[in-house]
Amino acid sequence: MKQSTSPFVLKCRVNGVSMERELPSSRSLLEFIREDLGLKGTKEGCGEGECGACLVLLDGRAVNSCLMMAVQVHGKELVTIEGIKGRDGGLHPLQKTFMAEGAVQCGFCTPGLIVASEALLRRRPKATLEEIKLGLTGNLCRCTGYEKVLSAVGKARKIKK
Ligand code: FES
Ligand code: FES
Repeated sequence: MKQSTSPFVLKCRVNGVSMERELPSSRSLLEFIREDLGLKGTKEGCGEGECGACLVLLDGRAVNSCLMMAVQVHGKELVTIEGIKGRDGGLHPLQKTFMAEGAVQCGFCTPGLIVASEALLRRRPKATLEEIKLGLTGNLCRCTGYEKVLSAVGKARKIKK
């Protein structure tokens, strides 16, 4: 049977702003974010749910946007890396500690790591090192060896947002 590509009117909030957009029901969430909204901070790595580069927050929970359809965010609150900020609208504590600890090298994995860390610290503001390691198991980084990443997330726990 032919797959339906009929248009869908998607209503949701993206980085704090309400929006409405007509799109084909076959559009992936990752395509919607990168191509339709032009928010290129969310990366496409594996496209199969294995690397975490495409993570975004959906109602506060980290999800792989490469595995979801755009229509699944209807009525929900979507936050991409562009929407993760400090209270003053500047850098978020995680962004500051990633830079300070040298946890950003090529940077391809960094948006996904920050989204995963933010989701974890919202749930567990005093997460232990083991919990941080577990929380980041879905994120691959080929550059840093992870130690600096863990240290950056550990330090961000102590900074008030
Ligand atoms: S691009 Fe989505 S998990 Fe790799
Ligand atoms: S900094 Fe290059 S993949 Fe993580």
